[in-house]
Amino acid sequence: MKATVRAHPNIALVKYWGKRDEALILPHQSSLSLTLAPIHVTTTVEFGAPSDTVELHGHAARGSERDRVLRLLDAVRVQAGRDLGPAKVVSRGDFPMAAGLASSAAGFAALAVAGRAAAGLPQDTRASSILARRGSGSACRSVQGGFCEWMRGEREDGEDSYAVQRFDAGHWADLRMVVAILDRGEKEVKSRDGMKNTVETSPYYPAWVKDAEAEVPRARELIAKKDLEALGELCERNAWRMHSTSLAADPPLCYLNSATLGLIQHLREQRKKGVPVWFTLDAGPNPVLLTDAAHEVAAEALARACGAVDVVRCVPGGDATLLTEHLF
Ligand code: DP6
Repeated sequence: MKATVRAHPNIALVKYWGKRDEALILPHQSSLSLTLAPIHVTTTVEFGAPSDTVELHGHAARGSERDRVLRLLDAVRVQAGRDLGPAKVVSRGDFPMAAGLASSAAGFAALAVAGRAAAGLPQDTRASSILARRGSGSACRSVQGGFCEWMRGEREDGEDSYAVQRFDAGHWADLRMVVAILDRGEKEVKSRDGMKNTVETSPYYPAWVKDAEAEVPRARELIAKKDLEALGELCERNAWRMHSTSLAADPPLCYLNSATLGLIQHLREQRKKGVPVWFTLDAGPNPVLLTDAAHEVAAEALARACGAVDVVRCVPGGDATLLTEHLF
């Protein structure tokens, strides 16, 4: 009745931005990401505990954070088809929470896989991805390693909205993602609220949906060919379009700050000098730089020269995996 899983976060190359169903977390468009190592979250789940307890990163979870975890475990109980009793959950991450890489993606992926294992259910990436999605959309892409595509699906019950691995981590082992932490502060508007506001008020939102959906197969082709330059350009284009649709929301949402823009400007200059480095940007000011192994040191130096207070260098990561050592 106890299981422990380690999962990695992921960075979207084609972003998910906006839900068509808030309760089930169903997106308006498909998205595509790369799972990132070595950073990870480890989660232990035990059913049959005296009462429901959730500890995240050393603190007892409360409010909506706790509810999200317990709701996911309720979905595990439904999949198991039996009463498993109260659950104890302990989760810990090894990377800076303000990295702009949501620890929630790795956390909910680990919770989904550990929850199923603790309930005695067989390993099933599709079922785990669907469960993880219900905790946080982007989490469905962290159940597996490498390049994962979250297919939006058509069904109202969400059973066809999950992530599949298109290429494993070994396919492009030379690829590097360098997280440039320019600002450690909590972002003002969480992704969940920001995307909701964008869906409801941005006149550009329908164009975003159509464009992002079309970019997914293009990104897949470029990954197949390992075409860094064309993939870098696609990533930047997609990030700019996500941020443009948000800037056009009411009230407007601007996640970039002057340091973000400074770094982007510097990046362009470096590219003119022949350094192959591109950026992507989630719902925060900290860019993630895309480059290859030969240029990761240069990418880190560039980030630091532009004011990065911390830098996390990542390589393609693997699947969420069961561990034999538990957190309690
Ligand atoms: C900008 O998955 O954190 O990082 O589904 O509401 O939990 P919820 O949102 P979340 O949003 C991620 C948004 C993004 C883009 C992406 O990861 O695809």
